[in-house]
Amino acid sequence: MEKIKIAVLPGDGIGPEVTWQAIKVLDAIAGRFNHYFEYCFADVGAIAIDRTGDPLPDLTLETCMAADAVLFGAIGDPKYDNDPNARVRPEQGLLKLRKSLQLYANIRPVKTYPTLLHLSPLKEDKVAGADFIILRELTGGIYFGEKTRQPDNSKATDLCSYEKHEIERIARLAFDYAAGRRKKVTLVDKANVLETSRLWRDVTKNIAKDYPDIELEMMFVDNAAMQLIQYPKQFDVILTENMFGDILSDEASVIAGSMGLLPSASIGVHTSLFEPIHGSFPQATGKDIANPNAAILSAAMLLESLGMNDEAHLIRLAVQYLLEKGIGTPELSPAIVYGCSRIGDAIAHMVSEPEELYLHEGRIKDGVSTII
Ligand code: IPM
Ligand code: MN
Repeated sequence: MEKIKIAVLPGDGIGPEVTWQAIKVLDAIAGRFNHYFEYCFADVGAIAIDRTGDPLPDLTLETCMAADAVLFGAIGDPKYDNDPNARVRPEQGLLKLRKSLQLYANIRPVKTYPTLLHLSPLKEDKVAGADFIILRELTGGIYFGEKTRQPDNSKATDLCSYEKHEIERIARLAFDYAAGRRKKVTLVDKANVLETSRLWRDVTKNIAKDYPDIELEMMFVDNAAMQLIQYPKQFDVILTENMFGDILSDEASVIAGSMGLLPSASIGVHTSLFEPIHGSFPQATGKDIANPNAAILSAAMLLESLGMNDEAHLIRLAVQYLLEKGIGTPELSPAIVYGCSRIGDAIAHMVSEPEELYLHEGRIKDGVSTII
């Protein structure tokens, strides 16, 4: 049996508890499909600062480099939030990890669940059927450009810079994803103002020539922010740079009704990383109320990236089935409230004994595949 090494970085806040549920489910998958997953735990974020003084210790990076995939929980702690000037911050761990693993593409699928439409702040008929992915560039742009500050604090600058090859590789990925979906790419930029955006347009248009059956649409980011809530169903694959993607993906996350449902994948040159998008949610830590579905669905994306499509499909089926039964964590105001741990148990159980799930498969509407 081939051993698959998974680096597990539970991180801060609710990170450990939701990650633990994902591991329960992965173990159930291993049992059912005869896989051998080896978990290598490592610290990142505030917990790593507390233990070593470094938000991304070398050992953690080495563990990730040596693994087949990284399962990531969350980072962040309120004790750092009020002091953005702190010399070491948990976020630096995540940014360094992205840069070191060269995770240049962050993939955030956004889809709605029929039983949860009422939770969206948008009108049900606007969001029903919305199903798109945001492809955010993750290792360039203003996040990583040169930063300056005058010693007398009279001026500061952040440089936004992109190289052609950085745009090319993620643009190709966007067209590849669109090819397996509804064949439309929307490039979101600010080409009416920014030179980097104009380069994004030129480069992406060039790549588009290799994909004649895929529609390429351009949209300014301010308009996109509006269109996302006015008519989200128009989108299939949204391609955008780092900062715009950060903002738009948080905006898009409310469409599904709960952040606790949305997984993400970051892929690039080295080991791919999978994480729920919700962050560390410190107020909920240790209360067994956090929604583990996003972490569990991130594990499904992880399996898919390793070619385990049936396994990923089964996890999604189980998540969907539970939601359709009206079972969920408190923030979903479900008919039947389960804690974080019990959701993990239930999904792991269904994955171990999926006969009933498969029986109902026709009724449980699974979403479009999110990984190619
Ligand atoms: C995200 C987060 C990070 C980002 C922070 C924690 C640095 O908001 O993953 O979207 O801005 O990229
Ligand atoms: Mn963000």
